[in-house]
Amino acid sequence: MTDASVVAVGTPQSFRQQLARSLELEAEEVGWVQSATAAEELLIGPYHTVDVLVLSPEVKEADALGLAEFVGRTSPGTAIVLVRDHTWNGLLPAAMRAGIRDVVDMTQGTDELREAVERAIAWAANLRSATASGGKAEGVRTQRGHIISIFSSKGGSGKTFLTTNLATAIAQVTGEDTALVDLDVDMGDVFTYFGREPTASVTDLMELGEGADRARVREVGVEVAPHTWAFGAPPDPAAEAPAGEAIGKFLRTIRNEFGFVIVDASVDYSDSALVCFDLSDMICLVTSLDVVGVKHLSKALDTLLTIGLPRERFRVVLNRADSKVGLDASDVERVMKIRVDAMIPSSRLVPTSLNKGRPVVLEEPGSEVAQAISSLAARFAGSASQVGELGGTEVVDDRKQQKKKGLFARSGKS
Ligand SMILES: Nc1ncnc2c1ncn2[C@@H]1O[C@H](COP(=O)(O)OP(=O)(O)OP(=O)(O)O)[C@@H](O)[C@H]1O
Ligand SMILES: [Mg+2]
Repeated sequence: MTDASVVAVGTPQSFRQQLARSLELEAEEVGWVQSATAAEELLIGPYHTVDVLVLSPEVKEADALGLAEFVGRTSPGTAIVLVRDHTWNGLLPAAMRAGIRDVVDMTQGTDELREAVERAIAWAANLRSATASGGKAEGVRTQRGHIISIFSSKGGSGKTFLTTNLATAIAQVTGEDTALVDLDVDMGDVFTYFGREPTASVTDLMELGEGADRARVREVGVEVAPHTWAFGAPPDPAAEAPAGEAIGKFLRTIRNEFGFVIVDASVDYSDSALVCFDLSDMICLVTSLDVVGVKHLSKALDTLLTIGLPRERFRVVLNRADSKVGLDASDVERVMKIRVDAMIPSSRLVPTSLNKGRPVVLEEPGSEVAQAISSLAARFAGSASQVGELGGTEVVDDRKQQKKKGLFARSGKS
């Protein structure tokens, strides 16, 4: 039974140990991903077939049903076992209809869990030998674009400036259509950096996730610079943030259409931000070089690592990095135990080009600040093409983890 691929899904990480113990396995013999979205990434990724996904009590019921639906479509040979730490009020029929094989009440002890997982493994093995298809549906797309999200838990650190210029520069470097997504639904100002206004509504954007074609995607997007397509809605502080699941579908549609998708993530750890990080190949943490900014950065990194995002997914960008403020990159590297990937100098060209509504990489391409961003864009684009198609989600599964080359796979120092 140790040949079967069993993956624990959901926080806390100790759920993986708990599951392994109940199966009388070592923790590393069971895979682990942090969320339902990450599990979906695993299933469509190039890694391996998964026999059983075991969902922790922390996976929300709606996410579990969403994952079951996804599995039904893309990986029908994978069984799902749902673990709850309470009785599952009346939702059992819905779970079964969605194709979840078993719901286990943790409070009943671990025997029930072991038996349920063993049954699920046997079911998956039977199905596999019957279809000899390896459990993956035919025609599932694995070729897709890369999502790079830009995050800072502190406002005003240059997130939108970096997102807009990086997207423009990546479009320039690759000569291909690149997407730019404003996930900052309350106060997004991505379009302002291009002197434009968003025209779509949040509903238009989310509807793209329901299987929009290429023409519709470009109808909803706005070409704000050559090969640079922006997706966002007018800021509405009263608007309710779209559900994480809808954001996930939307981002997947966008990344099927564009080689690179650069996302201005919101400043908090909302559901939509977390789904975005789950789907991101890279998460750029941006900070200004001051003690408060660096503290925020360090806390953000800790928080995101705690929820299970792999360290190698993070990049650190220091903005206004030449300020003579008594802090430098090596201080940040020491505190964060992660390499600083880029330093963007402070420049008056940033506010002046913002006022003109032209990204600095187009307005003043020869300037130091534009060159810092362009070389970052070239590295991101280059390393992505070097490694070719990349799964967005690393599986924390020591047996199967694959080493990849290039910046996309570079580990932090520690
Ligand atoms: N390297 C830089 N040199 C000079 N000014 C900069 C630089 N980076 C950002 N700024 C300025 O700092 C301000 C904030 O930048 P930006 O809007 O990108 O921050 P943000 O992190 O997106 O903020 P918010 O939290 O409001 O979304 C802007 O006025 C921008 O012009
Ligand atoms: Mg902003």
